[in-house]
Amino acid sequence: MQTILITGGAGFIGSHLTRLFVTKYPDYTIVNLDALTYAGNLNNLRDIENAPNYTFVKGDITDMKFLQDLFVQYQFTGVLHCAAESHVDRSITDPLAFVKTNVMGTATLLQVAKEAWKGDHDNKVFYHISTDEVYGSLGEEGFFYEDTAYDPRSPYSASKASSDHFVRAYYHTYKLPVKISNCSNNYGPYHFPEKLIPLSINNIINNTPLPVYGKGENVRDWLYVVDHVRAIDTIYHHGKIGETYNIGGHNEWKNLDLIVELCRQMDKKLGREAGTSEKLISFVTDRAGHDLRYAIDATKLKDELGWMPSLQFEEGLSNTIDWYLDNKAWLEDVVNGHYKAYYEEQYNAKA
Ligand code: NAD
Ligand code: TYD
Repeated sequence: MQTILITGGAGFIGSHLTRLFVTKYPDYTIVNLDALTYAGNLNNLRDIENAPNYTFVKGDITDMKFLQDLFVQYQFTGVLHCAAESHVDRSITDPLAFVKTNVMGTATLLQVAKEAWKGDHDNKVFYHISTDEVYGSLGEEGFFYEDTAYDPRSPYSASKASSDHFVRAYYHTYKLPVKISNCSNNYGPYHFPEKLIPLSINNIINNTPLPVYGKGENVRDWLYVVDHVRAIDTIYHHGKIGETYNIGGHNEWKNLDLIVELCRQMDKKLGREAGTSEKLISFVTDRAGHDLRYAIDATKLKDELGWMPSLQFEEGLSNTIDWYLDNKAWLEDVVNGHYKAYYEEQYNAKA
Protein backbone atom coordinates (compact mmCIF):
# COMPACT_ATOMS: atom_id res chain seq x y z
CA MET A 1 0.00 0.00 0.00
CA GLN A 2 1.39 3.37 -1.00
CA THR A 3 0.06 6.89 -1.34
CA ILE A 4 1.88 8.68 -4.13
CA LEU A 5 1.89 12.34 -5.06
CA ILE A 6 2.39 12.87 -8.79
CA THR A 7 3.08 16.52 -9.64
CA GLY A 8 2.31 17.76 -13.15
CA GLY A 9 0.09 14.74 -13.81
CA ALA A 10 -2.09 16.70 -16.24
CA GLY A 11 0.83 17.36 -18.58
CA PHE A 12 2.22 15.18 -21.33
CA ILE A 13 4.53 12.76 -19.50
CA GLY A 14 2.74 13.17 -16.17
CA SER A 15 -0.57 12.01 -17.64
CA HIS A 16 1.01 8.84 -19.05
CA LEU A 17 2.72 8.22 -15.71
CA THR A 18 -0.51 8.78 -13.79
CA ARG A 19 -2.39 6.42 -16.11
CA LEU A 20 0.26 3.71 -15.67
CA PHE A 21 0.29 3.92 -11.87
CA VAL A 22 -3.50 4.20 -11.47
CA THR A 23 -4.16 1.16 -13.67
CA LYS A 24 -1.17 -1.02 -12.78
CA TYR A 25 -1.34 -0.47 -9.01
CA PRO A 26 -5.00 -0.49 -7.92
CA ASP A 27 -3.86 -0.77 -4.26
CA TYR A 28 -1.95 2.50 -4.43
CA THR A 29 -3.64 5.84 -3.86
CA ILE A 30 -2.54 8.29 -6.55
CA VAL A 31 -2.94 12.04 -6.02
CA ASN A 32 -2.29 14.18 -9.08
CA LEU A 33 -1.33 17.74 -8.17
CA ASP A 34 -1.27 20.14 -11.11
CA ALA A 35 -1.57 23.91 -11.46
CA LEU A 36 -3.23 23.48 -14.89
CA THR A 37 -1.01 25.96 -16.69
CA TYR A 38 -1.37 26.23 -20.48
CA ALA A 39 0.31 22.78 -20.64
CA GLY A 40 -1.93 21.04 -18.11
CA ASN A 41 -5.06 19.46 -19.54
CA LEU A 42 -7.54 17.27 -17.70
CA ASN A 43 -8.70 15.90 -21.07
CA ASN A 44 -5.44 13.91 -20.98
CA LEU A 45 -6.88 11.83 -18.13
CA ARG A 46 -10.56 11.30 -19.06
CA ASP A 47 -10.20 7.50 -19.19
CA ILE A 48 -9.02 7.23 -15.56
CA GLU A 49 -10.59 10.26 -13.87
CA ASN A 50 -13.22 8.15 -12.10
CA ALA A 51 -10.87 5.40 -10.93
CA PRO A 52 -11.38 4.76 -7.18
CA ASN A 53 -7.65 5.07 -6.40
CA TYR A 54 -7.22 8.42 -8.21
CA THR A 55 -7.69 12.01 -7.02
CA PHE A 56 -6.94 15.28 -8.80
CA VAL A 57 -5.96 18.36 -6.81
CA LYS A 58 -5.40 21.76 -8.41
CA GLY A 59 -2.47 23.59 -6.84
CA ASP A 60 0.96 25.11 -7.28
CA ILE A 61 4.24 23.47 -6.24
CA THR A 62 5.64 26.87 -5.27
CA ASP A 63 2.94 27.24 -2.57
CA MET A 64 4.56 25.84 0.58
CA LYS A 65 1.57 26.08 2.92
CA PHE A 66 -0.64 24.35 0.39
CA LEU A 67 1.93 21.53 0.01
CA GLN A 68 2.33 21.16 3.78
CA ASP A 69 -1.44 20.74 4.19
CA LEU A 70 -1.54 18.23 1.35
CA PHE A 71 1.22 16.13 2.94
CA VAL A 72 -0.68 16.15 6.26
CA GLN A 73 -3.93 15.18 4.56
CA TYR A 74 -2.55 12.31 2.46
CA GLN A 75 0.58 11.12 4.35
CA PHE A 76 2.42 10.49 1.10
CA THR A 77 4.90 7.62 0.94
CA GLY A 78 6.22 8.65 -2.47
CA VAL A 79 6.57 11.63 -4.76
CA LEU A 80 6.89 11.46 -8.55
CA HIS A 81 7.83 15.01 -9.48
CA CYS A 82 7.00 15.89 -13.12
CA ALA A 83 5.63 19.43 -12.75
CA ALA A 84 7.75 21.91 -14.66
CA GLU A 85 7.88 24.54 -17.31
CA SER A 86 9.16 22.35 -20.12
CA HIS A 87 9.56 24.24 -23.41
CA VAL A 88 12.96 25.67 -24.40
CA ASP A 89 11.51 28.40 -26.67
CA ARG A 90 9.30 29.70 -23.86
CA SER A 91 12.33 29.69 -21.53
CA ILE A 92 14.10 32.02 -23.96
CA THR A 93 11.16 34.44 -23.85
CA ASP A 94 10.41 34.19 -20.13
CA PRO A 95 13.34 32.66 -18.19
CA LEU A 96 12.15 33.69 -14.73
CA ALA A 97 8.98 31.61 -15.02
CA PHE A 98 11.34 28.63 -15.30
CA VAL A 99 13.34 29.68 -12.25
CA LYS A 100 10.11 30.02 -10.29
CA THR A 101 8.53 26.67 -11.13
CA ASN A 102 11.53 24.45 -11.83
CA VAL A 103 13.94 25.75 -9.21
CA MET A 104 11.77 27.28 -6.48
CA GLY A 105 8.97 24.76 -6.99
CA THR A 106 11.31 21.77 -6.72
CA ALA A 107 13.13 23.23 -3.70
CA THR A 108 9.78 23.90 -2.00
CA LEU A 109 8.59 20.35 -2.64
CA LEU A 110 11.88 18.93 -1.30
CA GLN A 111 11.65 21.04 1.84
CA VAL A 112 8.04 20.02 2.49
CA ALA A 113 8.83 16.31 1.93
CA LYS A 114 11.82 16.57 4.26
CA GLU A 115 9.72 18.16 7.01
CA ALA A 116 6.78 15.79 6.52
CA TRP A 117 8.96 12.66 6.60
CA LYS A 118 11.02 13.99 9.56
CA GLY A 119 13.88 11.58 9.07
CA ASP A 120 11.54 8.56 8.91
CA HIS A 121 12.58 7.45 5.45
CA ASP A 122 11.40 3.84 5.55
CA ASN A 123 9.73 2.98 2.26
CA LYS A 124 9.75 6.61 1.15
CA VAL A 125 10.93 7.81 -2.29
CA PHE A 126 11.23 11.29 -3.74
CA TYR A 127 11.65 10.76 -7.49
CA HIS A 128 12.66 13.71 -9.64
CA ILE A 129 11.94 13.46 -13.38
CA SER A 130 14.58 15.35 -15.32
CA THR A 131 16.02 15.79 -18.77
CA ASP A 132 19.18 14.98 -20.73
CA GLU A 133 19.43 18.69 -21.62
CA VAL A 134 21.24 19.33 -18.31
CA TYR A 135 24.35 17.74 -19.86
CA GLY A 136 24.59 20.41 -22.55
CA SER A 137 25.24 19.81 -26.23
CA LEU A 138 27.23 17.04 -27.94
CA GLY A 139 29.30 17.29 -31.10
CA GLU A 140 28.98 14.69 -33.86
CA GLU A 141 30.17 11.88 -31.55
CA GLY A 142 29.75 10.64 -28.00
CA PHE A 143 26.93 10.13 -25.51
CA PHE A 144 25.65 11.51 -22.22
CA TYR A 145 26.45 9.22 -19.28
CA GLU A 146 25.22 9.54 -15.69
CA ASP A 147 28.58 11.09 -14.70
CA THR A 148 28.82 13.52 -17.63
CA ALA A 149 29.47 17.00 -16.21
CA TYR A 150 26.47 19.31 -16.23
CA ASP A 151 26.69 22.05 -18.87
CA PRO A 152 23.19 23.51 -19.35
CA ARG A 153 22.92 26.17 -22.04
CA SER A 154 19.28 27.30 -22.19
CA PRO A 155 17.26 28.85 -19.37
CA TYR A 156 15.14 25.67 -19.41
CA SER A 157 18.09 23.31 -19.03
CA ALA A 158 19.76 25.60 -16.48
CA SER A 159 16.61 25.52 -14.35
CA LYS A 160 16.39 21.72 -14.61
CA ALA A 161 20.09 21.36 -13.78
CA SER A 162 19.58 23.57 -10.75
CA SER A 163 16.62 21.48 -9.60
CA ASP A 164 18.69 18.27 -10.02
CA HIS A 165 21.41 19.82 -7.83
CA PHE A 166 18.87 20.65 -5.13
CA VAL A 167 17.56 17.09 -5.19
CA ARG A 168 21.10 15.72 -4.75
CA ALA A 169 21.82 18.29 -2.02
CA TYR A 170 18.79 17.05 -0.04
CA TYR A 171 20.08 13.49 -0.38
CA HIS A 172 23.60 14.30 0.76
CA THR A 173 22.69 16.80 3.45
CA TYR A 174 19.44 15.44 4.89
CA LYS A 175 19.52 11.83 3.58
CA LEU A 176 16.21 12.43 1.82
CA PRO A 177 15.61 9.20 -0.16
CA VAL A 178 15.80 10.57 -3.69
CA LYS A 179 16.06 9.12 -7.18
CA ILE A 180 16.63 11.07 -10.40
CA SER A 181 16.25 10.12 -14.03
CA ASN A 182 17.39 12.15 -17.03
CA CYS A 183 15.52 11.27 -20.19
CA SER A 184 15.89 12.16 -23.84
CA ASN A 185 13.16 13.78 -25.99
CA ASN A 186 9.78 12.10 -25.63
CA TYR A 187 7.00 11.83 -28.20
CA GLY A 188 3.55 10.23 -28.27
CA PRO A 189 -0.15 10.94 -27.62
CA TYR A 190 -1.22 13.99 -25.57
CA HIS A 191 1.96 15.91 -26.49
CA PHE A 192 1.32 19.65 -26.50
CA PRO A 193 1.71 21.01 -30.07
CA GLU A 194 4.42 23.53 -29.18
CA LYS A 195 7.05 20.74 -29.41
CA LEU A 196 8.47 19.65 -32.76
CA ILE A 197 6.56 16.41 -33.48
CA PRO A 198 2.99 17.34 -32.44
CA LEU A 199 3.38 20.86 -33.88
CA SER A 200 4.38 19.35 -37.23
CA ILE A 201 1.57 16.78 -37.14
CA ASN A 202 -0.94 19.56 -36.51
CA ASN A 203 0.50 21.69 -39.32
CA ILE A 204 0.52 18.81 -41.80
CA ILE A 205 -3.13 18.11 -40.99
CA ASN A 206 -3.89 21.79 -41.67
CA ASN A 207 -1.57 22.15 -44.68
CA THR A 208 0.37 24.99 -43.04
CA PRO A 209 4.17 25.57 -43.11
CA LEU A 210 6.46 23.28 -41.11
CA PRO A 211 8.95 25.58 -39.34
CA VAL A 212 12.42 24.00 -39.25
CA TYR A 213 14.94 25.95 -37.19
CA GLY A 214 18.25 26.75 -38.91
CA LYS A 215 19.16 24.05 -41.43
CA GLY A 216 17.38 21.24 -39.59
CA GLU A 217 20.71 19.61 -38.72
CA ASN A 218 20.23 19.44 -34.97
CA VAL A 219 19.94 15.92 -33.60
CA ARG A 220 17.59 14.62 -30.90
CA ASP A 221 17.28 11.13 -29.39
CA TRP A 222 13.57 10.26 -29.41
CA LEU A 223 11.80 7.89 -26.99
CA TYR A 224 8.14 6.86 -26.99
CA VAL A 225 6.52 8.35 -23.89
CA VAL A 226 5.05 5.02 -22.75
CA ASP A 227 8.57 3.57 -22.68
CA HIS A 228 9.70 6.54 -20.57
CA VAL A 229 7.00 6.00 -17.94
CA ARG A 230 7.76 2.24 -17.93
CA ALA A 231 11.34 3.17 -17.09
CA ILE A 232 10.16 5.51 -14.31
CA ASP A 233 8.03 2.69 -12.86
CA THR A 234 11.06 0.36 -12.90
CA ILE A 235 13.38 2.92 -11.28
CA TYR A 236 10.79 4.01 -8.72
CA HIS A 237 10.34 0.43 -7.51
CA HIS A 238 13.79 -1.08 -8.08
CA GLY A 239 16.34 1.71 -8.55
CA LYS A 240 18.84 2.55 -5.82
CA ILE A 241 18.29 5.51 -3.49
CA GLY A 242 20.58 8.44 -4.26
CA GLU A 243 21.23 7.26 -7.83
CA THR A 244 20.71 8.83 -11.22
CA TYR A 245 19.59 6.84 -14.25
CA ASN A 246 19.75 7.99 -17.87
CA ILE A 247 16.80 6.97 -20.07
CA GLY A 248 16.95 6.99 -23.86
CA GLY A 249 16.11 4.99 -26.93
CA HIS A 250 19.38 5.01 -28.93
CA ASN A 251 17.26 6.64 -31.58
CA GLU A 252 18.93 9.72 -33.00
CA TRP A 253 17.33 11.75 -35.77
CA LYS A 254 18.34 14.94 -37.49
CA ASN A 255 15.33 17.25 -37.29
CA LEU A 256 15.01 17.51 -41.07
CA ASP A 257 15.15 13.71 -41.57
CA LEU A 258 12.53 13.29 -38.87
CA ILE A 259 10.19 15.81 -40.49
CA VAL A 260 10.63 14.12 -43.88
CA GLU A 261 9.75 10.73 -42.34
CA LEU A 262 6.73 12.30 -40.65
CA CYS A 263 5.60 13.80 -43.97
CA ARG A 264 6.06 10.44 -45.70
CA GLN A 265 3.93 8.58 -43.15
CA MET A 266 1.26 11.27 -43.02
CA ASP A 267 0.89 11.54 -46.81
CA LYS A 268 0.16 7.81 -46.83
CA LYS A 269 -2.31 7.95 -43.95
CA LEU A 270 -4.09 11.05 -45.32
CA GLY A 271 -4.27 9.63 -48.83
CA ARG A 272 -2.15 12.48 -50.22
CA GLU A 273 0.25 12.05 -53.08
CA ALA A 274 3.81 11.18 -51.92
CA GLY A 275 5.86 14.38 -51.49
CA THR A 276 2.87 16.64 -50.81
CA SER A 277 3.57 17.45 -47.15
CA GLU A 278 7.34 17.80 -47.64
CA LYS A 279 6.59 20.91 -49.69
CA LEU A 280 5.38 22.55 -46.47
CA ILE A 281 8.89 22.50 -44.97
CA SER A 282 9.96 26.06 -44.28
CA PHE A 283 13.41 26.95 -42.91
CA VAL A 284 13.14 29.70 -40.28
CA THR A 285 15.54 31.66 -38.07
CA ASP A 286 17.42 29.37 -35.73
CA ARG A 287 16.67 29.12 -32.00
CA ALA A 288 19.08 31.22 -29.90
CA GLY A 289 21.81 29.01 -28.42
CA HIS A 290 20.36 25.94 -30.18
CA ASP A 291 21.99 22.76 -28.78
CA LEU A 292 23.39 20.71 -31.66
CA ARG A 293 22.96 17.15 -30.48
CA TYR A 294 21.64 15.08 -27.56
CA ALA A 295 22.27 11.34 -27.22
CA ILE A 296 21.79 9.19 -24.14
CA ASP A 297 23.70 6.10 -23.09
CA ALA A 298 21.14 4.09 -21.10
CA THR A 299 23.40 1.09 -20.41
CA LYS A 300 23.18 1.49 -16.62
CA LEU A 301 19.39 1.22 -16.68
CA LYS A 302 19.53 -1.82 -18.96
CA ASP A 303 22.28 -3.62 -17.04
CA GLU A 304 21.06 -2.88 -13.51
CA LEU A 305 17.30 -2.92 -13.93
CA GLY A 306 16.69 -4.69 -17.26
CA TRP A 307 14.76 -1.84 -18.92
CA MET A 308 14.74 -1.58 -22.72
CA PRO A 309 12.56 0.47 -25.08
CA SER A 310 9.69 -1.63 -26.45
CA LEU A 311 8.94 0.26 -29.68
CA GLN A 312 10.92 1.02 -32.80
CA PHE A 313 10.68 4.67 -33.81
CA GLU A 314 8.79 4.20 -37.09
CA GLU A 315 6.12 2.21 -35.22
CA GLY A 316 5.95 4.70 -32.34
CA LEU A 317 5.66 7.58 -34.81
CA SER A 318 2.93 5.74 -36.72
CA ASN A 319 0.97 5.13 -33.45
CA THR A 320 1.40 8.79 -32.56
CA ILE A 321 0.13 10.07 -35.92
CA ASP A 322 -2.84 7.67 -35.70
CA TRP A 323 -3.64 8.97 -32.22
CA TYR A 324 -3.69 12.60 -33.40
CA LEU A 325 -5.81 11.72 -36.43
CA ASP A 326 -8.25 9.80 -34.21
CA ASN A 327 -8.38 12.54 -31.56
CA LYS A 328 -9.00 15.68 -33.57
CA ALA A 329 -11.33 17.03 -30.84
CA TRP A 330 -8.45 16.91 -28.30
CA LEU A 331 -6.19 18.72 -30.73
CA GLU A 332 -8.77 21.34 -31.69
CA ASP A 333 -9.48 22.07 -28.04
CA VAL A 334 -5.76 22.56 -27.36
CA VAL A 335 -5.00 24.77 -30.37
CA ASN A 336 -7.87 27.12 -29.70
CA GLY A 337 -7.44 30.20 -27.52
CA HIS A 338 -4.00 30.91 -26.07
CA TYR A 339 -2.17 28.63 -28.50
CA LYS A 340 -3.01 30.90 -31.43
CA ALA A 341 -1.45 33.92 -29.73
CA TYR A 342 1.64 31.90 -28.77
CA TYR A 343 2.03 30.62 -32.32
CA GLU A 344 1.76 34.11 -33.82
CA GLU A 345 4.40 35.48 -31.48
CA GLN A 346 6.80 32.54 -31.79
CA TYR A 347 6.67 31.96 -35.53
CA ASN A 348 5.52 35.05 -37.36
CA ALA A 349 8.76 36.85 -36.56
CA LYS A 350 10.75 33.83 -37.79
CA ALA A 351 8.98 33.22 -41.07
P1 NAD B 1 4.42 19.49 -19.81
O1 NAD B 1 4.76 20.92 -20.03
O2 NAD B 1 3.59 18.76 -20.82
O3 NAD B 1 3.64 19.34 -18.42
C1 NAD B 1 4.02 20.03 -17.26
C2 NAD B 1 2.86 19.96 -16.27
O4 NAD B 1 3.27 20.63 -15.06
C3 NAD B 1 1.58 20.65 -16.75
O5 NAD B 1 0.47 19.83 -16.51
C4 NAD B 1 1.52 21.92 -15.93
O6 NAD B 1 0.20 22.37 -15.68
C5 NAD B 1 2.20 21.47 -14.64
N1 NAD B 1 2.78 22.60 -13.89
C6 NAD B 1 3.56 23.60 -14.40
N2 NAD B 1 3.89 24.47 -13.41
C7 NAD B 1 3.33 23.99 -12.27
C8 NAD B 1 3.32 24.42 -10.92
N3 NAD B 1 3.94 25.54 -10.56
N4 NAD B 1 2.66 23.68 -10.01
C9 NAD B 1 2.02 22.55 -10.37
N5 NAD B 1 1.97 22.10 -11.64
C10 NAD B 1 2.62 22.80 -12.58
O7 NAD B 1 5.80 18.76 -19.55
P2 NAD B 1 6.27 17.28 -19.93
O8 NAD B 1 6.81 17.28 -21.30
O9 NAD B 1 5.20 16.32 -19.55
O10 NAD B 1 7.50 17.12 -18.93
C11 NAD B 1 7.31 16.60 -17.62
C12 NAD B 1 8.66 16.52 -16.94
O11 NAD B 1 9.54 15.68 -17.67
C13 NAD B 1 9.37 17.89 -16.84
O12 NAD B 1 10.00 17.97 -15.58
C14 NAD B 1 10.39 17.86 -17.95
O13 NAD B 1 11.50 18.64 -17.62
C15 NAD B 1 10.73 16.38 -17.98
N6 NAD B 1 11.20 15.87 -19.30
C16 NAD B 1 10.48 16.10 -20.43
C17 NAD B 1 10.91 15.57 -21.65
C18 NAD B 1 10.13 15.77 -22.92
O14 NAD B 1 10.60 15.39 -24.00
N7 NAD B 1 8.92 16.32 -22.87
C19 NAD B 1 12.07 14.81 -21.70
C20 NAD B 1 12.78 14.58 -20.51
C21 NAD B 1 12.32 15.10 -19.31
P1 TYD C 1 11.53 20.61 -29.11
O1 TYD C 1 10.44 19.66 -29.45
O2 TYD C 1 11.19 22.00 -28.70
O3 TYD C 1 12.42 19.89 -27.97
P2 TYD C 1 13.87 20.32 -27.35
O4 TYD C 1 14.21 21.68 -27.80
O5 TYD C 1 13.62 20.26 -25.89
O6 TYD C 1 14.82 19.28 -27.84
O7 TYD C 1 12.52 20.70 -30.35
C1 TYD C 1 13.12 19.54 -30.90
C2 TYD C 1 14.07 20.00 -31.99
O8 TYD C 1 13.31 20.55 -33.06
C3 TYD C 1 15.02 21.09 -31.55
O9 TYD C 1 16.28 20.89 -32.20
C4 TYD C 1 14.38 22.37 -32.06
C5 TYD C 1 13.66 21.92 -33.32
N1 TYD C 1 12.41 22.64 -33.65
C6 TYD C 1 12.22 23.12 -34.93
O10 TYD C 1 13.08 22.99 -35.83
N2 TYD C 1 11.03 23.76 -35.21
C7 TYD C 1 10.06 23.94 -34.27
O11 TYD C 1 9.01 24.55 -34.59
C8 TYD C 1 10.27 23.42 -32.95
C9 TYD C 1 9.22 23.57 -31.88
C10 TYD C 1 11.46 22.77 -32.69
